[in-house]
Amino acid sequence: MVARINTVAFKGVDIQPVDVQVQISNGLPAFTIVGLPDKAVAESKERVRAALHALGIALPAKRLTVNLAPADVHKEGSHYDLPIALGLLAAMDVIPKIEMEDYLVLGELALDAGIRSVTGVLPAAMHAASNDNRLICPADCGGEAAWAGEVDILAPMNLLQLINHMKGTQVLSRPEGKLADVTSGHYPDLSEVKGQETAKRALEVAAAGGHNMLMIGLPGAGKSMLSSCMPGILPPLSPREALEVSMIHSISGDLPEGGLIQTRPFRDPHHSASLPALIGGGQKARPGEVSLAHRGVLFLDELPEFSRGALEALRQPLETAQAVVSRVNHHATYPADFQLIAAMNPCRCGYLGSPDQECTKAPRCGSDYQNKLSGPLLDRIDIQVEMQAVPVTELSSSGGDSSQIVAERVGQARSIQAERFGKASENISVNAQVSGDLLEKTMVLNDPAKALLTQCAEKMKLSARSYYRLIRVARTIADLDSVYQEEIAEKHVAEALSYKRINFQ
Ligand SMILES: Nc1ncnc2c1ncn2[C@@H]1O[C@H](COP(=O)(O)OP(=O)(O)OP(=O)(O)O)[C@@H](O)[C@H]1O
Ligand SMILES: [Mg+2]
Repeated sequence: MVARINTVAFKGVDIQPVDVQVQISNGLPAFTIVGLPDKAVAESKERVRAALHALGIALPAKRLTVNLAPADVHKEGSHYDLPIALGLLAAMDVIPKIEMEDYLVLGELALDAGIRSVTGVLPAAMHAASNDNRLICPADCGGEAAWAGEVDILAPMNLLQLINHMKGTQVLSRPEGKLADVTSGHYPDLSEVKGQETAKRALEVAAAGGHNMLMIGLPGAGKSMLSSCMPGILPPLSPREALEVSMIHSISGDLPEGGLIQTRPFRDPHHSASLPALIGGGQKARPGEVSLAHRGVLFLDELPEFSRGALEALRQPLETAQAVVSRVNHHATYPADFQLIAAMNPCRCGYLGSPDQECTKAPRCGSDYQNKLSGPLLDRIDIQVEMQAVPVTELSSSGGDSSQIVAERVGQARSIQAERFGKASENISVNAQVSGDLLEKTMVLNDPAKALLTQCAEKMKLSARSYYRLIRVARTIADLDSVYQEEIAEKHVAEALSYKRINFQ
């Protein structure tokens, strides 16, 4: 008779149910795994054999066949060890066959029968919850699985504990939900940044409305410093967003301490990052930085130093909030609703526009350097600010509002937006995500504002995309106004326009 265990395969963040079927039949002794296993899955028979041996259980000298159905889906990863081992134990009547069919199982086995952590436990637990399954996962992943709701979870440390639980000689309790440590990572406070009032205000607007932002300026002006203040002024994730973000991090295997993430992600990949690292994919399907920054910030310092291919590949996720990865053997879509914050120097030497310091190649060096950024990419960046060097006298002055005060203003503006879009769509929470009909309905300009926008849009030859993005920024500025403004006024449009174009030389 065939023993069956439920497990899963991952396709992006989506789950595909996999049925592990184990048959023990007469014939020459052999142990075969079929159903498109990759190398890690094929090697699992050695781990399973050793783990069972560690418990004093020998595999029968018969023909053991393990089929991972459906046979046409590529199986990747090490989480098939535990379902295969349990399937064998059920086929050998060591554990009850019928009861095992209720469980969804994932886990990697060590040679001493320990159960090691695996990726993707949170989405698997959510899948189990929605299918009325129970879940067996490694002890280290119990903390993330517990957030999936009313699902019955067993999180054993090793195979022996699990067998004892199944036989009723030991009871495993349900794991407690764990939270990721929110205090990790040190970010400077906004009050430590002296001068740079325009850039600070622009950062506040960007944080409030989820807009993309580019800072351009001389070396040492404080671009990297200002950007790293961003995590301190962003509001925490809502419970729904926290689950969404944690699911992606669970699949990529970097959920901090196996707990739920509550703070908005802030990802700052180095400019040597490859295209698959940034967008996702590679030999193993894995979310890229754009997806790990979902509902948070992707900070790209020294923007033109990124490879051209990587920068152009950002265009699609910036527009659609999704990263689509196509490879020979897989095709996956990951959510990538992130906010881009970027910084760069005006030229390679960095001093273009500074009268005493610019090099002999100016202004050619500036246009060569800036041409590395394509028009379509710049068109997607709503807020562009130039930063001059801070005068030395200003460095001893006080730095203005602290991150906490700015965070309160940002939080207030975000709750106005959440109220505005709450009924319209679950996925829209900030102005930057609004388009189409909803934009027309919710972002109304008064007459002088409309006149100013039309006049400037024509003069600046704004694209349709830039035009709508500008209205969204103006709406955020209106939301940040101390008195709530139903209609976008002229001053809001004027401020939004002032962020629109850097005079590339
Ligand atoms: N406006 C500022 N207020 C206070 N300190 C500043 C300011 N700007 C720069 N600094 C100091 O200078 C250091 C370097 O600044 P930062 O790395 O942000 O410069 P940058 O603009 O990113 O330069 P680069 O173009 O070379 O990357 C900071 O760590 C900080 O100590
Ligand atoms: Mg820098």
